[in-house]
Amino acid sequence: MRIVFLGPPGAGKGTQAQRLMAEHGMVQVSTGDLLRDAVRRGTPAGLRAKAKMDAGALVSDDIVLELIRERLGAPDTRRGFILDGFPRNLAQAEALGPVLAGIGQALDAVVLLDVDLDILKKRITGRRTCSLTGKLLNIHFSPQAELDACTAAGGTLVQRADDNEATIDNRLRVYREQTEQLVPYYQKLGLLRRVAGEGGMDEVYSRLTQALGLAA
Ligand code: AP5
Repeated sequence: MRIVFLGPPGAGKGTQAQRLMAEHGMVQVSTGDLLRDAVRRGTPAGLRAKAKMDAGALVSDDIVLELIRERLGAPDTRRGFILDGFPRNLAQAEALGPVLAGIGQALDAVVLLDVDLDILKKRITGRRTCSLTGKLLNIHFSPQAELDACTAAGGTLVQRADDNEATIDNRLRVYREQTEQLVPYYQKLGLLRRVAGEGGMDEVYSRLTQALGLAA
């Protein structure tokens, strides 16, 4: 399947994409991860993107589209993919069509993960990534055993640079002002599926696979 994940910061897009990838073989294409990797490697795109990311603003469309074109051109995406965090505004959504046409693919569904604001903030401030496995964890919500397994294996629980109170409000504002308009956009195209993103991670996954017709 070829899916877009829409939803505010902290809605669980990355968490659910990791599990769909593990259980259904689709490739997770996260523009946030691609950009953080570019920043780490100090590429020209990464150097241009860093200040915007630190401020919680959107990185310019040309940088993001170049990353998406390159990633979707890789052969592993033929087995299906999840676009996690892309598109983020109308211009990106309109640019996606020709990119997909160029690789002979089309979207099957756009999933909106809906979550209440108070829960989002707690999820974002508590988010950690295991430095060894890349697994997304949360100091408030993950089982202690999962957090301990990372550190016991020699890993550290890393907090993202933009997961601080000051930046979070801006990221949420940018979502409301620029990304939310994609909900009616994809609804009109008949692709939108709403999934309640509240409750435990397994519960959300179960709703998600039902909505996508992937439930066992
Ligand atoms: P990006 O990396 O895309 O961040 P985001 O959209 O802000 O989304 P998050 O990663 O914060 O949330 P998520 O929904 O993936 O939640 P997660 O699963 O991690 O973007 C970062 C920046 O890059 C942007 O601000 C922008 O600058 C730039 N950028 C990226 N894409 C761009 C684009 N297309 N155009 C322009 N700029 C772009 O979950 C969050 C936490 O909650 C985790 O700790 C998780 O363990 C926990 N959790 C998840 N589900 C549950 C649950 N059900 N119960 C309890 N805890 C849960």
